[in-house]
Amino acid sequence: MYYSTTALLVLLAGIVSAAVGDWQQCGGMNWAGETACNSGAGCVKINDYYSQCQPGAAPADPEPQPEPEPEPEPQPTEVTTGTPTATGAPSGTGPGKTLQSGYYWIRAVAAPNFHKYIQTKPLYSTGDALLGDYTTAGQFQVVDGQLLELVSAPGEPVKLLYAVVSETRSINDNSLAVTFSETKNTYGTFAFGGDDLEWSVAGVNRPNKSAWYVCTGQKLYINLGNYLYQTPAGCADQTIHYYNDKTANN
Ligand SMILES: *[C@@H]1O[C@H](CO)[C@@H](O)[C@H](O)[C@H]1NC(C)=O
Repeated sequence: MYYSTTALLVLLAGIVSAAVGDWQQCGGMNWAGETACNSGAGCVKINDYYSQCQPGAAPADPEPQPEPEPEPEPQPTEVTTGTPTATGAPSGTGPGKTLQSGYYWIRAVAAPNFHKYIQTKPLYSTGDALLGDYTTAGQFQVVDGQLLELVSAPGEPVKLLYAVVSETRSINDNSLAVTFSETKNTYGTFAFGGDDLEWSVAGVNRPNKSAWYVCTGQKLYINLGNYLYQTPAGCADQTIHYYNDKTANN
């Protein structure tokens, strides 16, 4: 068999014609020739009429890719806490079941609210102060006469709620409701005295600063009167005590 040199060149030209050589035209208006450059070269537009294969240039754009789907916005995860009584969305995720540094649990230690702990309803939110289950116990401190509840999670910016005492007497003439609020209490002063939580205000002479009522719905009230004397229906006399074990115990 014998091939002429010309025939061989034609054959080779046919094979290599699939790719445009470096620095050769690969595109442009009216260009009808090959458009694919050698591997390692890219087809670079010089002007509307002329594109050139340049070694090292990025290959011409492949098919345009669809825009990537935007990431879905992260949704706040629902807080699953143990209490069956809480309603509504918590305003904070809460500090969890491990006591944070500088805070205390506050609880009753006598029947009928033995080891029931101060918390809010809804949990970690503005609303009524009540004595509830140890699994949802709040964490508190007293600063400058304010009783503060920590409602943010560890590592989050600290968020605190203030215990606010109503100036209006409720249930009987000796009871003041307590709620938690984002604004400071302006009526009276909280204090840790002995191991009790106390509250006092100028002009009201309480026989026992540690006397509280826990009434219907576990709601917490200050008892301005004597402990265990003329207790209103639906209420129990309690003193409430702070302590700082690592966890709130049953
Ligand atoms: C307040 O009452 C409680 C419960 O009876 C009692 O333990 C405590 O000593 C009283 N505090 C004062 C200052 O009388």
